[in-house]
Amino acid sequence: MRLHKYIAACGYTSRRRAELLIQAGRVLVNGKSLMSLGTTVKQGDVVTVNDEVLSIPEPKTILFNKPPGIITSTHDTHERLTVMDYLPPALLKVGILPIGRLDRETEGLLLMTNIGELNHRVTHPSYEIEKEYVALVNGKPAKNALDKLAAGVQIENHKTAPAKVLQTVPDGNNTQVVLVIHEGKKRQVRRMFEAVGYKVLRLARTRVGNIKLKGLEPCGWRDASLDELRGLGIDYDDILKKHSSFK
Ligand code: URA
Repeated sequence: MRLHKYIAACGYTSRRRAELLIQAGRVLVNGKSLMSLGTTVKQGDVVTVNDEVLSIPEPKTILFNKPPGIITSTHDTHERLTVMDYLPPALLKVGILPIGRLDRETEGLLLMTNIGELNHRVTHPSYEIEKEYVALVNGKPAKNALDKLAAGVQIENHKTAPAKVLQTVPDGNNTQVVLVIHEGKKRQVRRMFEAVGYKVLRLARTRVGNIKLKGLEPCGWRDASLDELRGLGIDYDDILKKHSSFK
């Protein structure tokens, strides 16, 4: 396994920051400082960062019902609250990180895990894991606007992949639209609606793959079950085998 990936898998920090630590000479493998990013580690190697010996923790994946107004990040340079501030320290110690991001004002289902490969497969568009959102938009979207969303719209230099518009429900002068996408571009749902002339007033993620938010109160969290993780359809048993092979 590549060294930066191993450091992230141990829950020490993200892959990107691990690369920076390697380049800064803060990482030792079997007592030797290795500053090359291409370094790999094998079972039995002892990796230390700033004198702390790393090890792969027990796998842990949770569902968190993110409230609006907090950021999806592990730390914030502007001293704002992050999703990490809403979780017990014991969970943070095992190195769980958010799987993808929800904008500050977006609420709902955020999966978090300490399994790097699971994080990668859920977020990478090539695995096509569905993400379902309920968007409250202004007015009543015209049929041709919804058809355009489903076919794919241009947001800056990216054309969005085909999406599903599952339901539209009137809500006073506004409309609730249930939209399913499998990409995760920045502010994607908001920008998709903007591209067809509507503004998102409120946005909640309600499902990732087969995993549903239902039943979890705002700010609440619970462990993902084995059935839920297997049901994602990304060979969870294989992911787990690879993760555990380094323990
Ligand atoms: N799309 C958005 O616009 N925001 C999110 O947080 C997630 C998807």
